[in-house]
Amino acid sequence: MATNEEDGAVTAGSPEAAAAAKAGASASTGVTNVDAVELAPEGDAVVIIDQTLLPNRLEHIRLTTAEQMYDAILKLKVRGAPAIGVCAGYCYYVLARQEAQRASSYDDFASAMDAQRAYLNSSRPTAVNLSWALNRMHGVTLAHKGEAPAGIVDLLHKEAVAIHREDLAMSEEISRLGASLLNDGDGVLTHCNAGPLACLGYGTGQGPLFYAHDHGKTVHVFADETRPLLQGARLTSYELQRAGIDVTLICDNMASIVMKNGWVQACMVGCDRVAMNGDAANKIGTSGVAILAAHYGIPFYVLGPTSTIDQGCPTGDDIKIEERDPDEIKTMWYAEPKALPEVKCYNPAFDVTDHSLITAIITEKGICRPPYTESLAALFR
Ligand code: MRU
Repeated sequence: MATNEEDGAVTAGSPEAAAAAKAGASASTGVTNVDAVELAPEGDAVVIIDQTLLPNRLEHIRLTTAEQMYDAILKLKVRGAPAIGVCAGYCYYVLARQEAQRASSYDDFASAMDAQRAYLNSSRPTAVNLSWALNRMHGVTLAHKGEAPAGIVDLLHKEAVAIHREDLAMSEEISRLGASLLNDGDGVLTHCNAGPLACLGYGTGQGPLFYAHDHGKTVHVFADETRPLLQGARLTSYELQRAGIDVTLICDNMASIVMKNGWVQACMVGCDRVAMNGDAANKIGTSGVAILAAHYGIPFYVLGPTSTIDQGCPTGDDIKIEERDPDEIKTMWYAEPKALPEVKCYNPAFDVTDHSLITAIITEKGICRPPYTESLAALFR
């Protein structure tokens, strides 16, 4: 908290101050004690850190309409699979409060909420946590068929808070398990952002780095900048630097040389959807890191909650990959365009790392090793 106060970004009684004080927010360093997503104290809005403004400005925005919520997810103001799931739970609740005022019957309420669920779910396709959280919330609505909407809204509040609390707990456990795989002094290469901003708590892909640091282990982190939206530069290096962890920012195409130099003892990344055979979708470029790691004999770890494992998805071929606006590559970060307007662009937001390249998948329920068809299935038994 002190770090942010130095910037003048935190005021007493502000959402971030409340978040830091909240029981269960376990991570302890820099931005990690400021929740990326929370419910406004009055329950009428979802409050998020607008991650598109980082690292230059730490600002919160309030989401009260379905359109604002959709836009925030689509534009990556809130992002990272677990944080999207927590946000979706609170969004459903805030919209349910509004629909309950309008609805004249249970059926009106349930059908309005089904439409809101489908609308929010269409904002981004790859992170399974979005549909997972929305379906979990809608399941509460459906389980109370015929009851008064106002009573269901109270239950929805409990469910959304439960999703948030579970997320914090899973983040802590994944980070603990992940840190147990690291030795004091290890170099760790990571890609994209799977720290507190993406997950709340310590995080997943970067959670072990914060956990190790907070428990007296030294790690040296190489953070890929993560083209084209620069989550590694803007968010990961920001979080780690603020926490006092040794971090070196590299361009994505420098991963091979730092591995060849012997500076990397492990790679750790998050995930957006894991198929039941262990194929894992994560930010574009992740599979390239895994291929390099295999070449140099470096363990490659994928970290994520069981909510990111899609039991309806047998292999990576079944994962829908989001494609985004070409201007993210050509113009977004530059004063002047860096390619001719007519040049074609292909801008997939994610890729799938083949299970054969993954040393272990670390979940809050344990460390899964190959064969993943067996170890992942065992998590759900
Ligand atoms: O497009 P983003 O920024 O939402 O992508 C995020 C990632 O790919 C993360 O690595 C993943 O969601 C895991 S976050 C714990």
